Amino acid sequence: MTTESVFNVTIPTTIDWGIIKDLIKEYRLDDNNLSIDQFIIVKNEQTLLGFGRLKKHLDCDEVSSLGVLPQNRNKGVGKIIIEELVKQAAKNIYIVTIIPDYFVKLGFEKTCQFPASMMTKQNDCKDVCGCDSPTVMMLKK
Ligand SMILES: CC(C)(COP(=O)(O)OP(=O)(O)OC[C@H]1O[C@@H](n2cnc3c(N)ncnc32)[C@H](O)[C@@H]1OP(=O)(O)O)[C@@H](O)C(=O)NCCC(=O)NCCS
Repeated sequence: MTTESVFNVTIPTTIDWGIIKDLIKEYRLDDNNLSIDQFIIVKNEQTLLGFGRLKKHLDCDEVSSLGVLPQNRNKGVGKIIIEELVKQAAKNIYIVTIIPDYFVKLGFEKTCQFPASMMTKQNDCKDVCGCDSPTVMMLKK
């Protein structure tokens, strides 16, 4: 017998929120000004599979703090989260990332011209992820 995974996109409970905050630290993701209402999650029944965040800046929207639990990776969970956050965004969407190849597959393009809030994020990201040159990417809304 095979069991199929069902992926439900929803918002975090307070229990999920505690887990998400720990995972954000563990995966060295953006933990700046975390707020539960910015997040969506994917669950299979009661099990948290992944999470992601839409930050609304004055000059753009930003996807950040994307994480999928290791045992659930490469099943399309990250893609589902990004696609849902893109739907929710009102402006052009940016991401600052050290894995640009992943986001190219989801329609984002590398860009050298970006809003001031993304310049700040790029500098913050160097401190958080320890990477010299995180890539700024954009998806037109
Ligand atoms: C990156 C991450 C969110 C991907 O989530 P996922 O649910 O496993 O991804 P999906 O199932 O949607 O996509 C899988 C595809 O992406 C590719 N992929 C996965 N991780 C990748 C990476 N780090 N770099 C490039 N491609 C990657 C896979 O090879 C696969 O490609 P295919 O469709 O051609 O076979 C997940 O690996 C993760 O949580 N990593 C740790 C935290 C992190 O790096 N977050 C992003 C910070 S910007």
